[in-house]
Amino acid sequence: MNKVSHIVSIVMTMLALPINASATTDKIESSQLIKIFVAPSEIKAGKAIAESSCIQCHGVMGVSATENVPHLAGQHLDYLFTQLQAYRDGLRVEAKMLNAISALSDTALAQVAGYYSSLDPPLKVAAETSDSLTVDPIVAGKKAASACGACHGPTGNGAYPGIPLLSGKHPDHLIGVTKAYKNGSRKDPMMQLAVSMLSDEDIENISLFYATQKPLASTATAKGDVTKGATVAAASCNGCHGEAGNSASAETPSLAGQDPQYFSKATLAYKTGERNHPIMQSMVSTLSAEDIANLSAYYVAQLPKAPDVRIPLTTEQQAEKCDRCHGINGNSISPLVPSIAGQRRDYIVKAINDYKTNVRESSMMFAMSEQLTEKEIENLAKYYSSKQGKSVIFIRLPQ
Ligand code: HEC
Ligand code: HEC
Ligand code: HEC
Ligand code: HEC
Repeated sequence: MNKVSHIVSIVMTMLALPINASATTDKIESSQLIKIFVAPSEIKAGKAIAESSCIQCHGVMGVSATENVPHLAGQHLDYLFTQLQAYRDGLRVEAKMLNAISALSDTALAQVAGYYSSLDPPLKVAAETSDSLTVDPIVAGKKAASACGACHGPTGNGAYPGIPLLSGKHPDHLIGVTKAYKNGSRKDPMMQLAVSMLSDEDIENISLFYATQKPLASTATAKGDVTKGATVAAASCNGCHGEAGNSASAETPSLAGQDPQYFSKATLAYKTGERNHPIMQSMVSTLSAEDIANLSAYYVAQLPKAPDVRIPLTTEQQAEKCDRCHGINGNSISPLVPSIAGQRRDYIVKAINDYKTNVRESSMMFAMSEQLTEKEIENLAKYYSSKQGKSVIFIRLPQ
């Protein structure tokens, strides 16, 4: 069927249908919903159902005041209808919803869906501050790291002997050790003071900043024997710390290009237990002072390589991907894709987590939510809940 004849057939259906046709039909396909667009009486019937069976959870006029219960006002008719069928038929599981609708026929579901769809979406309440949703974490990290540069250098390549190389280290390692200084499980007076005021978010941003800086080959030299160091490293260290000291694992730090003074001090600290790390302690327990000097000379001479770091998108950049289906600012123009603009923040978080864990099944949304972190989900929910929803204009009650 071409486009024009399709539209003609829809109009014919609308004209041909007696106003009350749906009230006598038991099984409705979502493609037949068009008939209730033209039937104010159906929407009135839907209003009566809503006021007796839905209002206590979904609020007056479909604006929910209850945690994890979605707003329904201004949502697409087809979407609401198919979700109601899904609850009733057990495809979407929620006991509260099942209780509320188990006795309703398709006609009643279409009527109540039509009613909610005809309402205006809630007006945006006090706007969430969306500053944090547009900041680039690396730019924020650079700013927060300004005080670290005095010792670690502007890009984490170190300013003095004894200062470790931070650039190009895996962010998970940097986050882990920075928190260890902060909570005192790794001790160093300078570092404990330097990080004492950082929030978790600062630590994450700073770590990402250093991780994405290009690590430079060290100009420092060490007295040890590089060849002897290489032999010990190959036998005992590089299994974890990576070939030539460039680690492929997030938890194990790279040693390539590491400052030799820091390297020796840290290795000794594991050996004596001053740095409490049983695995490292057992790895270095038999090393002699000469071995450590040789290893420090070997590692500082290796070229450090930056790890492959996933640079997180800002929330706005992420939302551009969601908008491809959910419409600009979450105002969907596809009947079976829900609008998410102005939806409750807690409900959006719950919905995405349900898709992520397959509690709620949708292959599209599983693919979209699988990679999202808890924080990204919260930020997306903050972002969309602060957008103004738009009415679904083609379903309006005539005045
Ligand atoms: C006892 C509380 C309760 C009552 C009564 C109730 N609901 Fe719900 N409803 C919920 C909860 C909770 C959810 C979210 C469930 C989930 O996460 O899947 C929900 C979800 C929905 C959804 C899915 C919306 C979306 O964006 O995906 C629709 C549609 C809906 N309800 C319609 C209705 C209608 C129509 C009625 C009345 C016939 C009704 N509900 C009565 C609690 C209730
Ligand atoms: C006064 C100098 C100084 C300042 C300022 C400083 N650091 Fe350090 N940093 C050090 C020293 C010295 C060490 C080695 C400590 C040790 O032996 O455990 C270190 C170690 C580290 C390590 C451990 C590296 C590893 O791979 O184990 C990290 C991460 C780090 N600093 C991050 C920071 C951050 C972030 C800041 C700013 C908030 C900062 N530092 C400020 C001197 C400093
Ligand atoms: C079983 C895996 C494993 C082996 C083998 C291993 N290490 Fe480690 N190494 C680690 C882990 C994990 C850490 C991080 C410990 C921490 O958080 O303090 C570490 C940390 C280090 C550090 C501190 C780096 C920094 O940036 O702070 C040095 C130095 C080090 N190892 C040297 C060695 C040497 C030398 C050998 C070989 C004799 C060796 N390691 C063998 C797992 C290993
Ligand atoms: C490929 C198209 C597509 C993309 C891209 C997409 N979605 Fe969805 N989304 C859907 C569809 C279709 C549904 C309804 C699925 C169902 O039937 O449960 C949905 C449902 C949802 C819901 C549930 C709404 C409700 O009322 O229950 C939320 C929340 C949501 N998406 C958020 C997002 C976010 C955030 C992103 C971006 C990270 C995103 N979506 C990207 C197609 C998409």
